[in-house]
Amino acid sequence: MQQIKKVFVVGSGLMGGGIAQVSAVAGYEVVMHDISDERTDLGMAAIKKSLERFLSKEKITQEQFDGALARLKTTTKLEDAADADLCVEAVFENIDVKREAFGTLDKLCPAHTILASNTSAIPISSIAAATQRPENVVGTHFFSPVPMMRLCEIITGVQTSEETLGAAEAWAKSVGKTTVRVLKDHAGFIANRIFLPMIMEAISLLEVGVASPDDIDTTMKLGFNHPMGPLELADMIGIDVLRNAVTAVYNDTQDHKFSPPPLMKRMVAAGLFGQKSKKGFYDYTTGEKVSYWKL
Ligand SMILES: NC(=O)c1ccc[n+]([C@@H]2O[C@H](COP(=O)([O-])OP(=O)(O)OC[C@H]3O[C@@H](n4cnc5c(N)ncnc54)[C@H](O)[C@@H]3O)[C@@H](O)[C@H]2O)c1
Repeated sequence: MQQIKKVFVVGSGLMGGGIAQVSAVAGYEVVMHDISDERTDLGMAAIKKSLERFLSKEKITQEQFDGALARLKTTTKLEDAADADLCVEAVFENIDVKREAFGTLDKLCPAHTILASNTSAIPISSIAAATQRPENVVGTHFFSPVPMMRLCEIITGVQTSEETLGAAEAWAKSVGKTTVRVLKDHAGFIANRIFLPMIMEAISLLEVGVASPDDIDTTMKLGFNHPMGPLELADMIGIDVLRNAVTAVYNDTQDHKFSPPPLMKRMVAAGLFGQKSKKGFYDYTTGEKVSYWKL
């Protein structure tokens, strides 16, 4: 199986930063890329803060902390991917931006380089089609926050080779993740295929007045041992982010399970995105989560 030594991460936001961090801690040489120095600086600052938290909780040693930072470099030049064994893309969830990045990486990187995408919903095969090496293109879908969440879905495109899947799996395991294999390039993969309908159903129940947000969340927490209820979780992820994700799956499948409920669309239109806009299914303006939804 192919040896991965150098990892190039495209996009130094929430997910790209997390992927760069876990790779550096695991001993890989990592270069993290973004479109400007401001973005890579923000990404590095977030990684340092996260590593400091791990160090203060004794989850990593001082040696691991120093080693990870020493192995991490940043760049704004995609050309620096030219000696990478694995490129992991975590740019905006936009097919044109991703296809452009893959097309350029394909021209710059040697034949053995694996090109992976962290997309949540875009078919891997349509990203792979921007390259001349679809057999080396794979989905590696991490979860947020990457350093904490243990899962990575490994997604096969229609032409992905077994060798590429195996190498991506081995790398994800080596950075501390448990992998599951998504055997078909199926919109929503495994996780969002199950998760998104649950969130949509919780919103629909609220919309038709079956129960309050508190009671819907309490039901799933106490009845099914979920650590968070679906509506508070939706507020944390962002109602707009979830609406985009569910719409992408709906567009691909035309399956009504993935059709965003009218209430969700109205909330996005009204700027009620959840925690980041201080109001969603709950009100966070006082710094505490307060139920304000009147049925
Ligand atoms: N946020 C999540 O919970 C989550 C979970 C799983 C998967 N994802 C997926 O991961 C990807 C990244 O999401 P995120 O939450 O980290 O987004 P983000 O907005 O935090 O970061 C995206 C970064 O990509 C950079 N970027 C944009 N275009 C670029 C380009 N052409 N070249 C280099 N960098 C570029 C941006 O400047 C930004 O820093 C998306 O595809 C998203 O769907 C996100």
